[in-house]
Amino acid sequence: MEPVKNASSKGPIGVFDSGYGGLTILNEFLNDFPDYDFIYLGDNARTPYGTRSFEMVYRYTLQSVLKLFDMGVHLVILACNTASAKALRTIQQRDLPRYDAARRVLGVVRPSAEQTVNFTQNRHIGVLGTTGTVQSMSYILEICKFLPDAVVTQQACPMWVPLVENNETDSEGADFFVRRDLNLLFSRDAEIDTLILGCTHYPLLMPLIQKYTPAHVKVLPQGEIVSASLKDYLLRHPEIDKKCTKNGTCRFFTTESPEKFDEASSVFLDFPVKSERLHF
Ligand code: DGL
Repeated sequence: MEPVKNASSKGPIGVFDSGYGGLTILNEFLNDFPDYDFIYLGDNARTPYGTRSFEMVYRYTLQSVLKLFDMGVHLVILACNTASAKALRTIQQRDLPRYDAARRVLGVVRPSAEQTVNFTQNRHIGVLGTTGTVQSMSYILEICKFLPDAVVTQQACPMWVPLVENNETDSEGADFFVRRDLNLLFSRDAEIDTLILGCTHYPLLMPLIQKYTPAHVKVLPQGEIVSASLKDYLLRHPEIDKKCTKNGTCRFFTTESPEKFDEASSVFLDFPVKSERLHF
């Protein structure tokens, strides 16, 4: 076990995703925390995580978290539902105490599950996610902590991430898969009144999601929810807030080609990005 290298007392907030999806969360952070510094890390070389085993998602996520720690980060947000569902708990409970108990790693599943309470009227909730997120049952477990009698129906949408990663969100293929998966979900529970997009890539498919979702169903805005939850966390934990540098900067790292990352991020962000290559 390597000790964390950068022990400096302050640093940016780390935002991690398997690829581009976490940029939908970062966008909200940049709006809500204009003074804070952020580092975004996309593990584009090893995306998608959604179809990988627990072991691989855990190993890749931990490696990325430790890399962010080495870059001076004290607080990492796993802006990836798959990593939050499959790796977060082990990292929090087993790895942080060993590497550096003062650093923090938070995820996106719990804050999203918590907020369903404020959206649903009839407690029928639909969850869309990667195969990994669905298989982990994390959403069901977390939602039932807040709404024990909730009826949660999950639908894996394995084609949606590749469609987003390949900039195919307006294609006939995207229309086909979004329609098919949403029809499958609503045919299993027609009473769903609240829909969780349990994958950070999915907001990019929003026009199609809205097209095939009954108008009365509320679609949870995960980016806004996670950002509000971070605000609340930093207020409740001034000792962590004090460790966040505040110069209003944002750096981007990718494990794949920076040129590719810069071009693809224009789909997610409305400002140009100049990313850097990160080697493990
Ligand atoms: N963006 C990730 C999530 O929220 C999934 C993408 C992937 O499969 O790597 O689950």
